[in-house]
Amino acid sequence: MKHLIDIKDLSIEEIDNLIKVAKDIIANPEKYSHKCDGKKLATLFFEPSTRTRLSFESAMLSLGGNVLGFSEASSSSVSKGESVSDTIRVVGCYCDIIAMRHPKEGAPFVASIKSTVPIINAGDGGHNHPTQTLTDLLTIECEKNRLDNLTIGLCGDLKFGRTVHSLITAMCRYKNIKFVLISPDELKLPEYVKKGVLEKNNIEYCETKDIEEYMGDLDILYMTRVQKERFFNEADYIRLKDYYILNKNKLKKAKKDLCILHPLPRVNEISTDVDDDPRACYFRQANYGRYIRMALILKMLEVK
Ligand code: NCD
Repeated sequence: MKHLIDIKDLSIEEIDNLIKVAKDIIANPEKYSHKCDGKKLATLFFEPSTRTRLSFESAMLSLGGNVLGFSEASSSSVSKGESVSDTIRVVGCYCDIIAMRHPKEGAPFVASIKSTVPIINAGDGGHNHPTQTLTDLLTIECEKNRLDNLTIGLCGDLKFGRTVHSLITAMCRYKNIKFVLISPDELKLPEYVKKGVLEKNNIEYCETKDIEEYMGDLDILYMTRVQKERFFNEADYIRLKDYYILNKNKLKKAKKDLCILHPLPRVNEISTDVDDDPRACYFRQANYGRYIRMALILKMLEVK
C-alpha cells in the first residue's frame, strides 16, 4: 500500500501520468463518473480548509464514491485526548482512503505507519502540501504547456508556506528551472529546503526582498499568504502581513505570458484589480485541484 506524504513519494513518471489522467478527466468527465462506486474517502481535517477539503470531497463524489469525515479537531475524539494513530486506526475501518490535514509537521507520516488504508497528506503544519503541488503542476502544464525551462518567482511567506516547500521539491526534478525567492528577511526559505533541496540539486536561485527586481524575468509568479497561524508573536504578523501587495502597477515589467499563481486563500497579497488580468491564474488553479485529486484517488485506490 502506498501513501502520499511527500511529493517525492511520486516519481516524475507517476506525476506525468496523473497529469495525463487529469487532462482526460477534464475532456471526458462522464467516463469517470462511476469509477469509485461503493468506495469511501474520509477527510480528517484537524486544521481549517476550504479548497483542499472540498476539492477532495468533490473529487470523490465526481468519481461516484462517498465521503465522510470532520473539518475541525474539536468535533472529533481528539478533543477527548485520542492520539492521531488511534484515530487513524479506527477511521481506516470505515473507509478506503484518508486525506488528512494536521497542524503538526509529520503527523500524516506518523498516521501512515499505523494505517490500514492509504493516507494522503493534505498539509502538515509549515512542512509539506503535496496535493497542492500536484494542483500547481497541472495548472502550470495546462497554462504554459511545459514543466521545464521556467523561471519561477516565489513571493511572501517562504518560511512557513508549506505549498512553497513542496513545489520547490517537485520542480527541482525538471530541466532548466530557476527560482527567484522573494521574501522579507524574517520569512526566508528554511535552510533545510535551500541546502537540502536547491543546493543539493544544483538549482540556480537568487533571493531578494523586492518583488519588482526580477519581475521581467519570471514565467511564473507564485504568491503566498503570510501564515498567521504559524506565528508565535502577533506583533510580528501584523508587521509582515502586508509586506507584499501585488497590483497592476507592479506588473508593468512582467512578461505578457506570465502566469500568476496563488494556492489561496488570499488575504491582501494580491489586489483584486489583478483578478481580471488574463495572467491571473489562481481561480483556474483552484479548479484544476479537483481534477488532479480525482486522478490521485484513482491511482491510490488502484482503479483501472
Ligand atoms: C494553502 C495551505 O493550506 O497551505 N491553502 C491551500 O491548501 N489551498 C495555503 C494557505 O493556507 O495559505
